[in-house]
Amino acid sequence: MTDLHPDLVRILIDQEEIQKRVKELADQISQDFKDVKRLYIIGILKGAFIFLADLTRHISVPHVVDFMALSSYGRTTKSGAVRILMDLREPIEGQHILIVEDIVDTGHTLGYLLNILEGRNPASLHTCALVKKQRDIEAAPVDYLGFEIPDVWVVGYGLDYADLYRTLPYVAELKSEVYSD
Ligand code: PRP
Repeated sequence: MTDLHPDLVRILIDQEEIQKRVKELADQISQDFKDVKRLYIIGILKGAFIFLADLTRHISVPHVVDFMALSSYGRTTKSGAVRILMDLREPIEGQHILIVEDIVDTGHTLGYLLNILEGRNPASLHTCALVKKQRDIEAAPVDYLGFEIPDVWVVGYGLDYADLYRTLPYVAELKSEVYSD
């Protein structure tokens, strides 16, 4: 049995479930893009780095990996703008794009990103996320979704609180006293 970190309430998705689902998603993606010569996969830093590493190692179609780093202001307010901290290495016009995110919470970040990337005229644009909150208020479209989760603070497998807990091998609920003081 996995030892639970003392700051956690419970494990929501254990290591085995994650690995099984990641393989299923990769198989589905490989099937759907079997006729594509070069899939351009974009990991959104920092949170996506672990999911991206596991997912891409199961994807069997030719692909390249690139990264974007974004920061969002005032996630709780609708006015919060998203800022690009690090952009892609290549223009993506005419390319088949798959965005990989760790979490869709309000959907604000993914919605913003889709807008930006659509403006660069890719051949196709799809999204993949490990987890999505049931409350996803902006209804950002996720084409390949690992798990739907309740509206609690989750950490692990790339997800953080104050940049901590990202390398836990499972997704777990964080105790509220950790983030509320
Ligand atoms: C997290 C996550 C998504 C975003 C989702 O990033 O990686 O990009 O929040 O939230 P939303 O759906 O409400 O927009 P964060 O800004 O925490 O940065 P990080 O990936 O570096 O942890």
